[in-house]
Amino acid sequence: MPAPLKLLIPGPVQPDDDVLAVMGEPVQAHYGPAWTELYRETTRALAQVFGTSGDVHLLVGSGSAALDACLGSACASGQTVIIGVNGFFGQRLQAIAESYGLTVVPVPAPWGQPLNPADFAAALAAHPQAALVAVCHVETSTTIVNPIEAIGAVVRARANTFLVDAVSSLGGLPLRMDDWHIDLCAGASQKCLGAPPGLAPVAVGSRGWQAIDRVPAKGHGWYLNLSVWRQFAVEWGDWHPYPITLATNNVRALRASVLGLLAEGLDQRFQRYRALALRLRQGLRSIGLEPFTPDALLNPVVTAAYGPPGVPTSRLVAYMAERHGIKIAGGMGPEWKDRLIRIGHMSPRLTLADMDDLVARLAQFPN
Ligand SMILES: Cc1ncc(COP(=O)(O)O)c(C=O)c1O
Repeated sequence: MPAPLKLLIPGPVQPDDDVLAVMGEPVQAHYGPAWTELYRETTRALAQVFGTSGDVHLLVGSGSAALDACLGSACASGQTVIIGVNGFFGQRLQAIAESYGLTVVPVPAPWGQPLNPADFAAALAAHPQAALVAVCHVETSTTIVNPIEAIGAVVRARANTFLVDAVSSLGGLPLRMDDWHIDLCAGASQKCLGAPPGLAPVAVGSRGWQAIDRVPAKGHGWYLNLSVWRQFAVEWGDWHPYPITLATNNVRALRASVLGLLAEGLDQRFQRYRALALRLRQGLRSIGLEPFTPDALLNPVVTAAYGPPGVPTSRLVAYMAERHGIKIAGGMGPEWKDRLIRIGHMSPRLTLADMDDLVARLAQFPN
């Protein structure tokens, strides 16, 4: 194996050492009262991060598994869903929905612009039969933060169901699931939650369960069926509150990282990431790399910037890895793939000095 690169990509992130250490400890059984209490402590802590009094399930898989579970559990094939699409991960939501035979009404915005809540009001008025509205919180492909609270108000005014992809925002940006009328919310362990990849937390509020129960048998499979996860949480709640063999080391690592996040304080962590974003933007500008979005659209956990004029950014990405041992990401999608760099700063390990160091090394790029 070559030496590991320092990760400054928008996930996975480098976890704290105490979180990583847990991954190497002896494997424990995934059932029994002591283990079940540890699992519940983890889901209770995650519920605080989601900002919900609803249920949290820890699926074994990546963020896409959580999204797949939400869409496949809440919607029956043939139903219509309204999906915000202003980047690659909006398209991903659309692809998952279409894989279940759902008819997608896209609510588009240009890549690099936030979705407009008024467009959702119009889509809901035109498609009152829609089963659900789904939106990415952080559209990681462009760094745009979508206005979830405002869209949630629009969706609730129409008494519809709201699914949010919080895969790259959960634990890094304010997210108040219950206050913002989010009924189903999907996360991932390997981004702002600061743990290794492998777990996909899903939060379901009472209206989310109502949506799921409206059409009980959807024929969409078993593993990612949230009704199955709820059934085991209830029927086997005292010793094995999930249907499968859980990834116990991953759960313990996620527990350590989420308890660390809550000990630091959610607001404190959000402010810390915001400070990294501001410092990075300032540094990038100082070396002539203009951030992709204006400061008014600042994303606290991932920053995109235009590459040097006339240089495909894949060259800069490769240079940073080969010359400096730092992994940054390129742009996504046909328009931005080789024109942008994206820098993730969603690891609790990162400091202002890491941002300064990155900028100093980017400045050495011989173009
Ligand atoms: C907003 C968003 N949604 C979904 C995904 C897919 O998550 P995963 O790769 O964990 O399946 C990502 C991954 O980067 C993401 O950023």
